[in-house]
Amino acid sequence: MSELGTLEDLPQSYRDELTARNLVPLWPSLRAALPHGIPTRRTIPMVWSYSEIRPKLMEAGELTPIEKAERRVLVLANPGLGLENMQATPTIYTGMQLILPGETAPNHIHTPSAVRFVVEGEGGYTVVNGEKLPMERGDLILTPSGLWHEHGHDGDGPVVWLDALDLPTVFAMEASYCREGEPQQVRNQPDLAQTHYRRAGLVPYSSMSRPRDPYALKRFPWKDVKASLQDLATVTDLGSPVQLAYVNPETGESCMPVLGFSALMLRPEETVSPVRRSASAVLHVVEGAGSTVVDGKTLNWSDKDSFAIPTHAEVTFHNGSDRPAFLFQIDDAPMQQKLGFYEEFPA
Ligand SMILES: [Fe+2]
Repeated sequence: MSELGTLEDLPQSYRDELTARNLVPLWPSLRAALPHGIPTRRTIPMVWSYSEIRPKLMEAGELTPIEKAERRVLVLANPGLGLENMQATPTIYTGMQLILPGETAPNHIHTPSAVRFVVEGEGGYTVVNGEKLPMERGDLILTPSGLWHEHGHDGDGPVVWLDALDLPTVFAMEASYCREGEPQQVRNQPDLAQTHYRRAGLVPYSSMSRPRDPYALKRFPWKDVKASLQDLATVTDLGSPVQLAYVNPETGESCMPVLGFSALMLRPEETVSPVRRSASAVLHVVEGAGSTVVDGKTLNWSDKDSFAIPTHAEVTFHNGSDRPAFLFQIDDAPMQQKLGFYEEFPA
């Protein structure tokens, strides 16, 4: 392979003339845009410790009333991508949101899709298009693009959840915006996780003869996810991932279009090395303690911590304790699959 020419190879007068015409020569930058073999990655494998986040989030609760925040969030920003860009990985926005008793985060609608994963507290809820979704610890709540949503809190004590959005992608498309609305009319009935989609493999009969609902299920109760992981673990060889994907029960597809969500169980003292893949990810520790080696860097984690994994990384999880660990994973595999370049690299 021949070496490509640099900017300095070009006469200054020629470069100035290009600049004056808003033109850029590709070849000096070609290898940066299209490196050989593996992408250039600025995402730093790193942990955001909940013991460091929580006091600052509670301080935010004192410093900033909800009316002044709209959404009271501390964003988990990866310094490798520039803190101001608010990205955990190039495609994943994550933030810890605090809502205090009696507060409401007002009704709005926006182009980015969001999910909430409940970290602590009782009594929080989200209303999506009139459906009131209880927010119990570990529940996954979807607020998809284009659906009205608002949050409230009927209980005591703080409620904290992890927000995950496809905001970096939508923002990069110059397509990110929101609209505000009046509070929603809430239907006085249990959410669809308790009525229409109680078990995998069973869907309302009427759904078979109408267009599939792109967001049929908007709450995935943690108690069901955890029990399903524990059952799967009983028949899975040690060292093989015990992992379940959150999908739309009507389509079987990833429950959101850009970001994918899954839950992983690590048994006591278990080590798991998943296949290396092209997707980036953020993991949140629901419970447990352990470590993850990412491209040779060891990340130690425990309850409620979150950590970032760049694209194409070699990853090994280790549960260093005598109790099971449960992790919630956010990744960008669905978007990579839709764009046609999702890859796995078996060892
Ligand atoms: Fe929102």
